Amino acid sequence: MTRLLHIASSPRGADSASQQIAMTYLEAYRAAHPDHEIETWDLWDGTLPEFGPAAAAAKMTVFSGGVPEAESASAWRAAEATFRRLDGADRLLFSVPMWNAGVPYILKQLIDVVSQPGMVFGVDPDRGYSGLLAGRGKKATVIYTSAVWGPPLGPEFGRDFQSTFFEDWLRWTGIDDITTIRYHPTLTGDVDVARGRAHDDARVAGLAG
Ligand SMILES: Cc1cc2nc3c(=O)[nH]c(=O)nc-3n(C[C@H](O)[C@H](O)[C@H](O)COP(=O)(O)O)c2cc1C
Repeated sequence: MTRLLHIASSPRGADSASQQIAMTYLEAYRAAHPDHEIETWDLWDGTLPEFGPAAAAAKMTVFSGGVPEAESASAWRAAEATFRRLDGADRLLFSVPMWNAGVPYILKQLIDVVSQPGMVFGVDPDRGYSGLLAGRGKKATVIYTSAVWGPPLGPEFGRDFQSTFFEDWLRWTGIDDITTIRYHPTLTGDVDVARGRAHDDARVAGLAG
């Protein structure tokens, strides 16, 4: 069965603009794909492991061909379980508010936990990285929101390290079928018009799946 996983990175629950847009996407997706399984993972629900000293040590051990032991072994198992949760999905929907020009740290934490050799990437000394999620029909949709910065605005309103960083990561994993939905009302824009457009885009994207 095709599985869609919505990964929500705003902690604002029902007040979250990015999650509201995600709900519109999911409603349309569900109508178009009634046989698909849909799950939402709120990254703030406490299930995401940390990636601290034991995990970093495990990564360096695996990278150099070794096997993590003791504390590092359990940190590595937690990373593997988290990766399996991500990798079990054929369709990924990410709702991503801008935080200080980038992404919320909880989403960076997910990236740091799952971006491991043999999971998300391989590396060859001559040819460099290869994304291990490539060629498996995976598709991603990403909802980007912000309140101050917007595409027409210059650096006095901030810069977009949110979508540049996140899309680069997705492509690095090997996922290159990416649909983007944006909601950037800015401080002087028409919030209702911007919101309406974002929800319309989400509906269209959800139906297309
Ligand atoms: C911690 C934090 C940092 C933020 N940083 C920025 C920022 O750098 N630029 C910006 O335009 N908006 C910023 N915002 C506003 C949010 O990106 C914006 O309100 C977004 O739509 C929130 O999404 P959400 O409602 O799904 O949480 C920030 C909000 C928070 C809570």
